[in-house]
Amino acid sequence: MRTVFWDYDHDTVNMIDQRQLPWHFEVVAFDDYNEVARAIREMYVRGAPAIGAAAAFGLALAARQSEATDRLALLRDLETAASVLKAARPTAVNLFWAIDRLMRVATNEELETPDDVRRVLLTEAQQLADEDVEINRRMAYIGAELISDGDTILHHCNTGALATVDWGTALGVIFAAHEQGKRIHVLVDETRPRLQGARLTCWELKERGISFDLIADNAAGHFMRTGQVNIVLVGSDRTAANGDVANKIGTYKLAVVAKENGVPFYPVVPTSTIDLNLPNGDMIPIEERGMEEVVTVFGKSIAPEGITARNPAFDVTPHRYVTGIVTEVGIVYPPFEKHLREAVARAQAAKEKA
Ligand code: MRU
Repeated sequence: MRTVFWDYDHDTVNMIDQRQLPWHFEVVAFDDYNEVARAIREMYVRGAPAIGAAAAFGLALAARQSEATDRLALLRDLETAASVLKAARPTAVNLFWAIDRLMRVATNEELETPDDVRRVLLTEAQQLADEDVEINRRMAYIGAELISDGDTILHHCNTGALATVDWGTALGVIFAAHEQGKRIHVLVDETRPRLQGARLTCWELKERGISFDLIADNAAGHFMRTGQVNIVLVGSDRTAANGDVANKIGTYKLAVVAKENGVPFYPVVPTSTIDLNLPNGDMIPIEERGMEEVVTVFGKSIAPEGITARNPAFDVTPHRYVTGIVTEVGIVYPPFEKHLREAVARAQAAKEKA
């Protein structure tokens, strides 16, 4: 099953409610784009490509909700919906990329009626979702070349099928290596405070019968220093033009320790996550979430009453710590400035040819 999908019988945006995993598996349906925006903000759906697809379907839904009877009125309603959806989470560029892609289609002047716009928006959202699965699959087999039989891979957050429409980015590489018959083992960072590693990555690895151990985030350095990690694989929410990588909080620390210990560090990043408009990672907006995520665990307080906490959801790893970046058009090595730009152009050309 896909993480996020359009239900053609009921005209709703459906998604797996990831807040409930691994205890309950529930698919929720939304018939209001404001609810889709809330679901992104509250992390029913999370992971950069999954957020992008949810927002795309959300905009297609907004077009259906609008009662506009002329094209320009519909476009005005779509502009409002686009800003609501874009405000849901700031870091994952896929959200903005997906909305902008759909708005480009919606504003095509060859479309005559509001229903033409409604129809093409849903087609485009569906295509974006289908492409995501295809891109991830391609990227996974490209990345699997980095994995040798017997390797132990350190992984942070959740980058699997649940973080995308299906298949995954960094976890996708792990699934591909497993499928190729390589005997691999994964050390799974629990990923405080939302525990995407413990709850979601362990769930996906267990489902596929891949060998793994869950570790406390603080243990990663120990395993790298003692030579028990062959490679670190992570995802990205936004990668700047110079190769600086924003990803789940804690990634930066992993990358520094990996370099210190000679462990290769590879983000796995579809070109939709590369933001060539930002020259470096300092310009990437970092989401800061509510402090209750830090001071409570499953609703129970873990600190004295009334204390304050900080909760940045992402950090930026400067490109000097990045060994290479796996994309759907190949593995990109330094100088990233030049090679990322070429990779994005290659991906664009391939899409235009298809
Ligand atoms: O806060 P989340 O769970 O949305 O963060 C997700 C990540 O940090 C992933 O590593 C990232 O989206 C890339 S994986 C598809």
